[in-house]
Amino acid sequence: MKFITILSSLSLLASAFAPAETPEEKAGRMQWFNEARFGMFIHWGVYSQAAGNWNGKPVPGAGEWIQSGGKIHAAEYREILQGQFNPVKYDPEAWVIAAKGAGMKYIVITSKHHDGFCLWDSKLTDWDVGSTPYKKDLLKPLAEACEKHGVKFCVYHSIMDWSHPDWGSKTPNNGGNAPVDATPALWRGNAANPKPDMDRFTAYLKGQLKELVDDYKPGILWFDGEWEDAWTHERGVDLYEYLRKLDPSLIINNRVDKGRDGMKGRTTDEKFKGDYGTPEQEIPATGFGEDVAWESCMTMNETWGFKTEDTQWKSNEVLIRNLIDIASKGGNYLLNVGPTGEGEIPSASLERLAAIGDWMKVNGESIHGTTASLFPNVSWDGRSTTAVADDGGTRIYVHLFSLPTDGKIILTDLVTRPDGATLLGKDTPLEISGEEGAWSIQLSPADMHPIATVIALNFPGNPIIQRPLTSQQK
Ligand code: GLC
Repeated sequence: MKFITILSSLSLLASAFAPAETPEEKAGRMQWFNEARFGMFIHWGVYSQAAGNWNGKPVPGAGEWIQSGGKIHAAEYREILQGQFNPVKYDPEAWVIAAKGAGMKYIVITSKHHDGFCLWDSKLTDWDVGSTPYKKDLLKPLAEACEKHGVKFCVYHSIMDWSHPDWGSKTPNNGGNAPVDATPALWRGNAANPKPDMDRFTAYLKGQLKELVDDYKPGILWFDGEWEDAWTHERGVDLYEYLRKLDPSLIINNRVDKGRDGMKGRTTDEKFKGDYGTPEQEIPATGFGEDVAWESCMTMNETWGFKTEDTQWKSNEVLIRNLIDIASKGGNYLLNVGPTGEGEIPSASLERLAAIGDWMKVNGESIHGTTASLFPNVSWDGRSTTAVADDGGTRIYVHLFSLPTDGKIILTDLVTRPDGATLLGKDTPLEISGEEGAWSIQLSPADMHPIATVIALNFPGNPIIQRPLTSQQK
C-alpha cells in the first residue's frame, strides 16, 4: 500500500509542476475547434417540459430560466418537472445527423443548466435523469452517435446551481458589475441554508465534472453561470488547472473564470483563464485579434430552452449570413436548438438546419478550415474568408450578398492578380479584368444564390492586399 501512496503523491507532485503548455501545443489542441467554424448548441432539461409555461400561464424570459422567472420554489419545481420528464421521442442519432447535415462539426449540450438538473445519472445527486420516468442516461447515446458520425461531443455546464444548498449567492447578482438585486431568491435551494459552503460546492462541481470528463470525454467544457459573486477568479483558475490536468486535450471556454466582458464575451485580461472568447447573441465588429479564438453563441428564435410561445424564428438568410460574417472574422458560430420535453427538435429548427445544409453542401469550403478575411474592408456587399489551398497556395473566398446593377464585382485593395477564379458549385472559370488594386469579375443575376454566392480566387503564393496611400499619407 505504501508504495502506491508514494507513487500517487509523486505523480500528483509531477502534475502540479507540469510544464506550461507551449503556444504550439495550444495551437494543436485548438486546431479542430478553429477549423470547425460551426457547431450546434443544445439547451435541454426539465425546463423543456415546462416549455415556458407554469400553472397554465406563460412565464416571461428564456425557457431555461423559468424557475427564476416564475420564482418557482426548488421543491415544487423539482417535484413537478422531475416527475414529468420522459423524453420518449428522443433520437440522438437523428439530432447528430441533422447537425452534421447542416455542416456543424461539434455539438455542445447542456449537461446541467442553472437549475442544477443533470442529464446523466450522476453519483453525486438524484436531481438527475435517473430519478425521472425516463431513467436512462441522455448524454451517453448522444456521445456515441457523435462518435459514429465524426461530430465532436461537447458539454455546457453551469457553475451557478440554484438547486444546491451550498451555492454561495443568496441574491441574483452580477458580481458587482450591475446593481445587485437585494431581493433574496427564496425560491433557490440555498435559501434555507444560513451558511452556504462554497468549498463543499466546488468539490461537488469538480466531482460532477470528473464524471463527465471520465465517462463522456467531451471535446469542450462550455462553462456559464460564472457571473454571481459566489464564484471568484481564484476558483476559476483552480478549476481550469484542475480540468486541464484531468484531460490535457480538453478545450475550456472563458466562462470558467471571471474575465468575460458580459455579452461581448471577450477576455478582458490575460490573467483570466479560458481558451476562447464567448460573445453571446452578438457578432463582434471585428475578430478579437490575431490567433485569438472566439465563438458567437446565438439562438435560432429568442429562447435557448424550448418555449411554445417563442415563434420569433430567424430567417435562413440571417442564419447563413451570420455564419459567413462570423467566419470572415475568424470565429465560430454556435447555433442553438431547444428540443421539447418529449425529445424532439422543433420542426422550425430542423427546416432551418436543412436550408443551411443545402447552402453548405455547395459553399462549405468557404467556411470550414478558413481563417479571417485579408481585406481591411471589402468593397462588395458581402464578406471574405481565406484558406490554404491544396497546392500550398492561397484561396480567397468572396461572399456576395447582392450583385451591383452592372454585375461588376471590383476587388478593391487586391494588388496581386488571381491565378484563376470560379463560382463555387460551378466549374466554369470566371474572367478577371481590371488592374492592380481593382481587379474585377463580371457576373449575371443567374449566377447568384438568393442568400450568398461565393467566388473562389486562387493564388500560387500569398496575395498582396494593400490599401493605397492617400495623398496626405504619400
Ligand atoms: C445566457 C443565458 C443562459 C444560456 C447562455 C448561453 O447566459 O442566461 O440561460 O445558457 O446565455 O450562452
